[in-house]
Amino acid sequence: MIFPSSFVVFLSVACAAAAPKPSEASHSHSHTVRRALPNTWHQPDDHPVHALFKRATATGDGVAYPAVGDAAWAAAYPQSTPDSKALPAAWVNALNAAVAAGTIPDIPIPTQTAPNTNPIYPTGSDPNSPNICSGTYKCRIPGDIWDSPDGVFASSFDDGPSPSTPKLVNFLDSNNVTSTHFNIGVNILQQPNEFQMTFEAGHDIAVHTWTHPYMTTLSNLDVVAQLGWTMQLIHNSTGGRVPRYWRPPYGDSDVRTGAIAKEVFGLETVFWNHDTNDWEAAQPDIEAALTQFLATPKTPGLIILEHEIVDRTVDSFIASFPKIAAAGWKFESLAKAVNDGRTYQNAAGSLSNDVKVSGILLGAAAGSSNSSSTTSSTQSGSSTSSTSSSSATSTPGNNLSPNNNNTSEPGSGQKGASIANRDTLFLSKSYLSLVVVSVVTGIFATLL
Ligand SMILES: *[C@@H]1O[C@H](CO)[C@@H](O)[C@H](O)[C@H]1NC(C)=O
Ligand SMILES: *[C@@H]1O[C@H](CO)[C@@H](O)[C@H](O)[C@H]1NC(C)=O
Ligand SMILES: *[C@@H]1O[C@H](CO)[C@@H](O)[C@H](O)[C@H]1NC(C)=O
Ligand SMILES: *[C@@H]1O[C@H](CO)[C@@H](O)[C@H](O)[C@H]1NC(C)=O
Ligand SMILES: *[C@@H]1O[C@H](CO)[C@@H](O)[C@H](O)[C@H]1NC(C)=O
Ligand SMILES: [Zn+2]
Repeated sequence: MIFPSSFVVFLSVACAAAAPKPSEASHSHSHTVRRALPNTWHQPDDHPVHALFKRATATGDGVAYPAVGDAAWAAAYPQSTPDSKALPAAWVNALNAAVAAGTIPDIPIPTQTAPNTNPIYPTGSDPNSPNICSGTYKCRIPGDIWDSPDGVFASSFDDGPSPSTPKLVNFLDSNNVTSTHFNIGVNILQQPNEFQMTFEAGHDIAVHTWTHPYMTTLSNLDVVAQLGWTMQLIHNSTGGRVPRYWRPPYGDSDVRTGAIAKEVFGLETVFWNHDTNDWEAAQPDIEAALTQFLATPKTPGLIILEHEIVDRTVDSFIASFPKIAAAGWKFESLAKAVNDGRTYQNAAGSLSNDVKVSGILLGAAAGSSNSSSTTSSTQSGSSTSSTSSSSATSTPGNNLSPNNNNTSEPGSGQKGASIANRDTLFLSKSYLSLVVVSVVTGIFATLL
């Protein structure tokens, strides 16, 4: 294909991932994850996400979740690009309700003239106008997150989990800090141990879509599929936590895709204000880039695009880490640094014990009244707010805590626009390779 060298690199990396992985035995800290669901949500009670991913009840949701990494766990999800005709009806209903309510802008869908190039809108549609506002063109939609608070190095890593993830997580853990991991759904399927290690070390898990497409080029339903499956997998693999943040691959989101994320799934969109280009096959000097960003004024705070895809990107971060504090920056996981610090829609953080058990999901939530679990519906209709089905059986490992009916903190407004983002992003080669490799690895896995 067009990028043989990166393919080979990723192929070898991904194949290594198919081998048995080190467990967390070497993980010295004893973090106890309370696998309980909270009763306190970020989104208001009438937000559709409550019906899609059910809120807690005092008795748990009664679901016995397969262990992360089990065959049954992986088999329940699309293995590659999701089929938008086979979506849980609750997701489709929630989308249709949002469209009917006028909250999803009906704008032209851009196309790409070649793979891995910027999506192009039809003549007459300005991607920098407020009614399109594409992140690819560095247009900032008010409320989206591009900057962190003054003086804060808001840390995040994209595209994991990968075989290089343990090195990163162990390093951060040894420095008593965590980060936010914008994970790709199919990579979680391929690297379940690395995923679980990240979560259980107290890091924040966020959404980076299922297969890393240019989101603005997708239909509404395909956008729902990319976000919904990733949220579902994270939810079902973290004791019911519902991610609060997503980062569009390539920074490619506009008013339509951002609205679907927000209105259907309650997700907030996160970009960046500096880019290391660490993914580039050309091997840019990542450390030099980081050093340069650390020397910039403390206003606004830093959100630097970094990846946990190969050792090289992780090693460069590790080498630069001491410079962050030395330059006067406060290192913090992105999801904790912005807004009110709540990293999930229904819990404060991975290790927080403010949660309480319960319910979730989709199949269960939607199935209770209005849908079969995998039937697509094209009818419009409001999302039903399903009542939680109480069950006497609590999920093993759940820690029940007293009910707390307190709801939502309003999401604080993020700074609007104005600071030009000069970074470019074409993650293409790595990604395509990564996805191709994931599939190849899957084939190998079945052959072996
Ligand atoms: C680790 O960080 C926490 C809070 O972030 C702090 O309370 C604790 O003292 C730190 N531990 C070490 C060994 O620095
Ligand atoms: C996720 O968990 C819910 C219960 O909360 C279950 O109904 C659903 O089938 C699970 N989904 C997948 C894809 O495993
Ligand atoms: C299913 O949802 C539709 C609206 O989306 C509603 O009109 C209908 O009554 C619901 N059916 C059930 C069984 O709740
Ligand atoms: C929470 O709200 C539910 C219904 O709104 C109510 O039945 C329950 O008693 C409340 N629990 C607490 C602890 O306030
Ligand atoms: C609810 O929130 C208020 C203010 O945030 C707090 O004072 C109160 O203690 C909370 N109640 C519970 C049950 O957590
Ligand atoms: Zn990415």
